[in-house]
Amino acid sequence: MSVHLKQDKPDTRNVLDTMAQGVIGADLPRPEGLIKVTGTAIYAAEYRADGMLEGVLVTAPVVRGEIASINEASVLGMPGVRAVISDKRMTGRPAQGTAGEAPFQPAREVCYWGQPVALVVAETFEQARDAAKRLALDWHGTGDAPLDPEAAETEKDESTRKGDLAHAMAEAAHTVDVTITTEGHASAAMEPHAALAQWDGRTLTVHASLQMLKYNRAELADSLKLEEEQVRLVSPYVGGGFGSKLGISQEVVAASLAAMQLGRPVRVVMSRQQVFQTIMRRSETRQRIRLAADAEGRLTGFGHEALVSNLPGEDFAEPVLQSSQFLYGGDNRLLKLDLARIHRMTAGSVRAPGEAVGVQTVEQAMDILAEKLGMDPIALRLRNLPDAHPAKGTPFSSRKLAECLEEGAKAFGWEPRPRAPRHTREGEWWIGTGVASAARVHAVVEAKARVTLRPDRTALVETDMTDIGTGTYTILGQIAGEMLGLMPDDIDVRLGDTDFPPGSGSGGSWGAPSCGSAVFLACEGLRKDIARRLDIGTDDLTLKDGLARWDGGETALADILGGEPLDCIGHFEPGSSIEDATVSSFGAFFAEVAVNRWTGETRVRRMTGAFGIGRVLSARTARSQCLGGMTWCIGNALTESLMFDPVDGHLANCDLAEYHVPVHRDVPALEVLLLEERDAAASPIQAKGVGELGLCGGAGAIANAIYDACGARVFAYPMTPDRVIAAMPDI
Ligand code: MOS
Repeated sequence: MSVHLKQDKPDTRNVLDTMAQGVIGADLPRPEGLIKVTGTAIYAAEYRADGMLEGVLVTAPVVRGEIASINEASVLGMPGVRAVISDKRMTGRPAQGTAGEAPFQPAREVCYWGQPVALVVAETFEQARDAAKRLALDWHGTGDAPLDPEAAETEKDESTRKGDLAHAMAEAAHTVDVTITTEGHASAAMEPHAALAQWDGRTLTVHASLQMLKYNRAELADSLKLEEEQVRLVSPYVGGGFGSKLGISQEVVAASLAAMQLGRPVRVVMSRQQVFQTIMRRSETRQRIRLAADAEGRLTGFGHEALVSNLPGEDFAEPVLQSSQFLYGGDNRLLKLDLARIHRMTAGSVRAPGEAVGVQTVEQAMDILAEKLGMDPIALRLRNLPDAHPAKGTPFSSRKLAECLEEGAKAFGWEPRPRAPRHTREGEWWIGTGVASAARVHAVVEAKARVTLRPDRTALVETDMTDIGTGTYTILGQIAGEMLGLMPDDIDVRLGDTDFPPGSGSGGSWGAPSCGSAVFLACEGLRKDIARRLDIGTDDLTLKDGLARWDGGETALADILGGEPLDCIGHFEPGSSIEDATVSSFGAFFAEVAVNRWTGETRVRRMTGAFGIGRVLSARTARSQCLGGMTWCIGNALTESLMFDPVDGHLANCDLAEYHVPVHRDVPALEVLLLEERDAAASPIQAKGVGELGLCGGAGAIANAIYDACGARVFAYPMTPDRVIAAMPDI
């Protein structure tokens, strides 16, 4: 049995609200939480296989060039060494999780420092590492390698031009024209990229750490010239992806090539340095924001122009303008994205690509405008919420932005007043507060899941969907439990194996609404079948605690099944419901910071986030996603920055000691409010994306709080002490 839905219309039935089990949205622990915290959940690098060999990648010490020769003999005689693999297929760039859009290109030319060029395979990891360090390579150059995005060739993409922004700026009562820079970011997932490949002569099985198995399987088959059916990927637990595992990267291809060539299982685990040097980066950005407003603070013009970068030949351009398209009004609009071609590792999706660096700059500009107007910054934002998409005219499917600003302000204890810095000092610390809006576009993708009702009063959910720490196991159990009248403990959720029906994968915050909808549809199919067996209408059926009830009767589910399992595949596809409306998650951030008057050091003292994400499927994991996002806001605002050597182009800070993500001491009490909301257009379960929303704008609230504290307007992220001191007015 299967149920297919291409969602062309909003689903206003709110079916989940009509169910009786009462577990949807509940605050429940993760079913896999215990094995994760006790270290018994097996991650990619921890799998073993009989006769397994270890591979260590050799990476390029140049930003651009071709290998003239590889002296394999230099290491083949070393103890334990079995092979040097330099197949050009493994030199390809990491995929972006977009299999099918562009065929895999084997490459001989190296185009960034740290690009893998060979794999040394040995009996033990230590032998392989030793040999990898000694492998002699000769290079010759293949041309210029521009390193500076400001000086490189660019491609232009003017995405929106409406009215005349320059004219609006000239006529406006108040204007803001600021240029703000952000530096590159690493995904910095805790679990390194790793793969164990096994080849039985026909089928390749790879245990790896990946976000989107359906696409990754196609990518790997494509790169190895195998049929997709010959590739099985297994990835039940993923220690964070944040975009870096959306597509396959070199460790997967290298382990597979080696296993196929040597006829033994081969494991390849990237070192932390290799993860930093080789895997996707977030582009640095330079953004110019222009705001024109009338005397009452109504925007008449809105401009957002950005410069981002990528390698020559790559399509991805950090989509900085994504929510600038519709967050605020202003009839005269100019949005423009330029892409510079430089030789740093591939730029791709990293933690909320686009909005994570695009919203905070707009929010800084709004703070400056509020100050010029003598207005409370929340009042300014409320005055400028457009009635519909300012360029396309499509209505918002749901938007709790005003409520998030208002409710968040209450929870935080926001004092509405025009901004005037240096109002509070405690010893050598200036104290200030700041606010910012949050917005991230909603996306859903095709997904399938199989749900099986078993005669023992349990159910099984199967999909190749992943749980990258986001809570997939939890929410799919809650959806199935609600629909089938079972407790989530009685739902066995199995993920991360391409033998299961292909899910959506985890990316772009679409996992819960997409895969959740597939599970929902499968359960709708099961409910229909149960009602048919009972000879009642589906609407007359109540499933609760393993019992089926209807007007005048009640029976155990097990009896209806007659001792046989009953399964259904749910197949969800996005349709025009998300094109006919502007569908986005929204929220608001509030931050209180202390800035040291002598050193410029900033400490975030507390933060509140209020979010509207459609239906909350699971209170605990949704809150957790928001906590994670807000934590990244702190890193984005204060510490995170990829530092490239301007002379030879290598990444200088390629470990977690030098690339500073927020640690416990950096993260104060974070408060999360989830506002009740249903979005019928977003998905048949009325849920929108949540994963990335929490990091879209919050760094701007911190920047605005720094200004409110000490009077420093900093226009470069991260706002390190040197930058804060330089921008601080004299005491
Ligand atoms: Mo996300 S950065 O699309 O994993």
